[in-house]
Amino acid sequence: MDLVIGFLGGILISHTISCQKGGAKLIEARHRAQKKVNERRDKRLRELKKMRITQPEVHTEISGESERESESESESERESESESESERESEQETWYSARSEEEVSEKEDHCISYQLPREYQHSISRDILKEYIIISKLGTPGKDGIVLCVYSTKDKRQYAMKVFKKGKSLKNIKQEIFFQKKAARHGLAPPIIWDTPDEKNRLFIMEKMSDTLESVLRTQRGTLTKAQTKQIIVLVRRLDDIHILHNDENIGKNMMVNSSGHFYFIDFGFSKKIKKNTQTNMGLLTVIDRLLKKPVFHNVVSKEEKKTGKTIDVRKKVRDAMKDRIKQRIKELKR
Ligand SMILES: Nc1ncnc2c1ncn2[C@@H]1O[C@H](COP(=O)(O)OP(=O)(O)O)[C@@H](O)[C@H]1O
Ligand SMILES: [Mg+2]
Repeated sequence: MDLVIGFLGGILISHTISCQKGGAKLIEARHRAQKKVNERRDKRLRELKKMRITQPEVHTEISGESERESESESESERESESESESERESEQETWYSARSEEEVSEKEDHCISYQLPREYQHSISRDILKEYIIISKLGTPGKDGIVLCVYSTKDKRQYAMKVFKKGKSLKNIKQEIFFQKKAARHGLAPPIIWDTPDEKNRLFIMEKMSDTLESVLRTQRGTLTKAQTKQIIVLVRRLDDIHILHNDENIGKNMMVNSSGHFYFIDFGFSKKIKKNTQTNMGLLTVIDRLLKKPVFHNVVSKEEKKTGKTIDVRKKVRDAMKDRIKQRIKELKR
């Protein structure tokens, strides 16, 4: 009996020792992987810091106020970034313990400088991420896409990368690229510098702009200068001339200026080819008028309406019809 107990005890002890050895190996492997992750992360952060010093964000010099505003914005952005960085680090540790080394570096590539939302993590390949470091988010993410500020490790410049969710069809992404490229050839949209999306890369990369029309109007207190007004009219007319109907009324966010104050259309996601001569982008001018303290485009729009015999400012037409009806009713009551 003693012999049997001794034998079983022996087996148990040797099993425990081998388990301990296995556990030690696992811990050692994890330490090695963690070290690699830390090294890679430090390198990225060093690159990023260097880049922030050498590549300050470009902002349109519309007024001193806007500069000051954007300075404080970027300060608070930096603060929140460093906050989220430490959050990320602790998140990385917990998540790391559950995954292999390969997965660790894959996730790290995505989140070291900006935590890319989960729904976009399969929309950018590692090859692209090697060449472009994600710095931050630009604007407000839409239903299917997000625009990121990226830094090219090749030419050391910043670009805007528009990334789409998995559900967005490649056909639609290619169509958006097609219209933007056409507009860019005529100087009406930011040039696209990377335009070959596929299943692994649901994105395109373009020149980075400085401000949306909306923020220009905010800093200029709801007004446009004469030069800006003229430029916007030319921009809209020229888009008509190349037969592109922009077709997105959210023009405050879909028109941007570059660092030299030049206006461009962005977001050709709803764009169509103009087939009839009566189709025009002039309606966008009436939308901009509504964003202004005092409308400036109404004369151009009504001239165009007279010329083509087609209503562009639909809201004005409804307003006028209402006024006519009220006048008629008053007349009837007076009788
Ligand atoms: N080239 C760019 N440079 C800088 N910011 C951009 C650029 N393109 C888009 N953005 C920012 O991203 C926001 C959303 O871009 P947009 O193309 O309109 O996406 P969506 O299709 O989701 O509306 C814009 O309002 C703007 O703030
Ligand atoms: Mg948009």
